[in-house]
Amino acid sequence: MAEQINTQVLVVGGGPGGYVAAIRCGQLGLKTTIVEADRLGGTCLIRGCIPSKALIHVAGKFEAMRQHVGEGKLGIRLPAAPEFDLGGAVDWKETVVDKLNSGVAALLKRAKVRAVHGKAVFADAKNCTVATADGDIAISAEHVILATGSVVAGIPSLPFGEHVWSSTEALLQRELPKRLVVVGAGYIGMELGMAYARMGSEVVFVEALDRILTLFDRPLVKPVEAWLKQHGIPAHLSTKAIGLVEDASGRALEVESADGTRQRLPCDKVLVAVGRRPCTQGWGLEKMALTMDGPFVKVDDQCRTSMRGVYAIGDLVGEPMLAHKASAQGEMVAEIIAGHRRRFDPVAIAAVCFTEPELVGCGLTPDEAKAQGHEVIVGQFPFAANGRSLAMQAGTDGGFVRITARADNHVVLGIHAVGAHVSELSGEFALAIEMGARLEDVAGTIHVHPTMTETLPEAALAALGHAIHA
Ligand code: NAI
Repeated sequence: MAEQINTQVLVVGGGPGGYVAAIRCGQLGLKTTIVEADRLGGTCLIRGCIPSKALIHVAGKFEAMRQHVGEGKLGIRLPAAPEFDLGGAVDWKETVVDKLNSGVAALLKRAKVRAVHGKAVFADAKNCTVATADGDIAISAEHVILATGSVVAGIPSLPFGEHVWSSTEALLQRELPKRLVVVGAGYIGMELGMAYARMGSEVVFVEALDRILTLFDRPLVKPVEAWLKQHGIPAHLSTKAIGLVEDASGRALEVESADGTRQRLPCDKVLVAVGRRPCTQGWGLEKMALTMDGPFVKVDDQCRTSMRGVYAIGDLVGEPMLAHKASAQGEMVAEIIAGHRRRFDPVAIAAVCFTEPELVGCGLTPDEAKAQGHEVIVGQFPFAANGRSLAMQAGTDGGFVRITARADNHVVLGIHAVGAHVSELSGEFALAIEMGARLEDVAGTIHVHPTMTETLPEAALAALGHAIHA
């Protein structure tokens, strides 16, 4: 007979939304069970954010080493070219993933959360069955937190397979393709495509829209475009992928540009990165009778679904589909179940793209602020004028910090940056906006010298009309 678990809280999905929710539930003394079909950590930790950042790190290291061959650079000269072994890089990446995966398992255990490994299939809103390696487990819960995340979206005419990868396969390869065509110049395509280029593949981008990285505004993306140009990496814009063709002349991706012209881009492999969609199929969501919001599960500002006691968080409930949003919602829902008064109402959620150079967006761009009816003042400060950046070879990529504030009371509405290492500045950007900082608060906070963070008060001063170092 199937084991029966009766639990106060059932969390479905062990990604950064679900596992954080479960840990917080456990901390709050709620009897909690989490179900995960794959490995704890979810897409982010197992086949997304973390492994991609590990490979991007390796790619950067290899590219930097190559610059020291021959004449040398910075007084460092390598007598021979470094060799690259993608298998070795992937093995190292797996050690990082394994460490974090077992860390999550340990945190859940410490919070006294029971982790069940298998796929939950719901019969109704509060009851599911999980087929585990040791047999079926039936789970009945008072509260359910749905955190099933998202799955890759594909192109029907370009099905995933040996030669057509999704981001998942791109993170598992042991051999570098000579020629890689990347379809979709969004977050994933640009991050992984640039990493493969730095590791040594010949990369070509194909993007349906008329520019790359449309999530960020044009001035911000310029240094990334410049990097592509400098490295001779073409981006075919306003161009759609049609399908893979193989003939006597080899394998190629057929693409069609906006005017209907077709051409073939020779390739060994294709990486398709055209977005993700919420994971709503295959686990009985339809049995739960929840109200939907397009492809997403509809929730209110407490992540409550239309069914009493059933919550949904993360990628399942809409944009932005970012791990840190999922975690914040998970923590909040746990506290709501424990009786706290909480609401999900962030002023801004920062987004980072780990391209060359990196991009950060937090809050409103000048154009978005104007579109919302604000009169704005904008200040910008280049990393080329920042000592720490120059001392790290990070000031020459055209990067800058831009701060957007209301003209009347100087409250900061948005902070954006492009440049090497700027991802690490994103926390301060979010803090300033969340705390309702004014330009004077940012400018008046003494920032450590020499650090890249000094560019933020300088940008605030620039908006006020008197930057010191520019
Ligand atoms: P995306 O939405 O960022 O970019 C997809 C791109 O593909 C778009 O520019 C779109 O115009 C293009 N496209 C769509 N169909 C096409 C076609 N047939 N031919 C050519 N181009 C086509 O989606 P992506 O990069 O797959 O990422 C999915 C999500 O994953 C992101 O929205 C983000 O939330 C998350 N993510 C976050 C990261 C981070 O925080 N650093 C990194 C990677 C992903």
